[in-house]
Amino acid sequence: MGKKRILSGMRPTGKLHLGHYTGALENWVARQNELDAQGNRAYETWFLIADYHSLTTSLDTADTFSYTIEMVIDWLAAGINPEKSPVFRQSQVKQHAELFLLFSMLITSSRLERNPTLKDQVRELNMESISFGHLGYPVLQAADILLYKGNVVPVGEDQLPHLEITRELARRFNNHFPHPATGGVFEEPEPRITKFSRLAGLDGKAKMSKSLGNTVLLSDTPEEVAKKVGRAVTDTQKIRKNDPGRPEVCTVFSYHTRFSPDDRVHSIAEECRSGALGCVACKKMCAEAISAELSPILEKREAYASRPEMVREVLFDGEDRARKTAEETMCEVREAMRLG
Ligand code: TRP
Repeated sequence: MGKKRILSGMRPTGKLHLGHYTGALENWVARQNELDAQGNRAYETWFLIADYHSLTTSLDTADTFSYTIEMVIDWLAAGINPEKSPVFRQSQVKQHAELFLLFSMLITSSRLERNPTLKDQVRELNMESISFGHLGYPVLQAADILLYKGNVVPVGEDQLPHLEITRELARRFNNHFPHPATGGVFEEPEPRITKFSRLAGLDGKAKMSKSLGNTVLLSDTPEEVAKKVGRAVTDTQKIRKNDPGRPEVCTVFSYHTRFSPDDRVHSIAEECRSGALGCVACKKMCAEAISAELSPILEKREAYASRPEMVREVLFDGEDRARKTAEETMCEVREAMRLG
């Protein structure tokens, strides 16, 4: 059996924040570099920029390209190696549009209307009605995954309903259109949720998000990190330095659990509870721990940011490789469907 394939993607949202890093990117890099018992790569890894998907929530494309470049710079700075992992834009591989169309015949609109992730989004964005393409969001995502025969899909929890739809489409396609030589064209992919999939926002909201303006960016300097963490929400009942605090409700403490060493986390919790540690000192330690982890990323980021033509080359090369694999899959699909 061949190596398992990992496929994941993000919409081009510009510079990434810590939530993207702990929830996705860090894990992508680990899987890219993971070795099996024989010392070979454990997975093949493919990373996609979902620029078609962005159109589901905004038709303003003025910033899409610059957002793509900023995001890819963050991917590379965090350790994505484009020789190992093709990095490509969905819109540059037309097979995504073709498989999306074919899959759209295999699923009912009522099935798509029941998608809880879509319902949440419609509610959050106060949308009165949605486009036909937006309803088909998970169908396009299924095409993204199955074109590369992805077996493992690292995603956040909100994406699980989409993975379920991908699995249904793979099954339904194989049942309706068994391939004459291989039986089934597709395998059902497995989702993989990362442990730190949610990082709270600086304002204490459940999630860091660009639209809420409560983020620390991967590209923030130590001074910017210190300033932002300095303003973060802590236990609102801990007003004076020596008031006893409750780490379990504190956003800054939640960052410590991810960025500070375990023994430090333990002592911070105790000293916060006893009132020995004030928020100012605690935040300073937190900002330092975050910046220590970001410093190699920041350094690499600057190297890429000064050479945008190199970033474009990474995309062109990834897109060539993606097209080749996507076309191989589409040949099987067309054969199974007796199209041409
Ligand atoms: N829908 C995903 C998100 O918003 C992005 C995405 C598009 C994706 N295509 C994908 C994720 C394929 C995994 C696999 O996060």
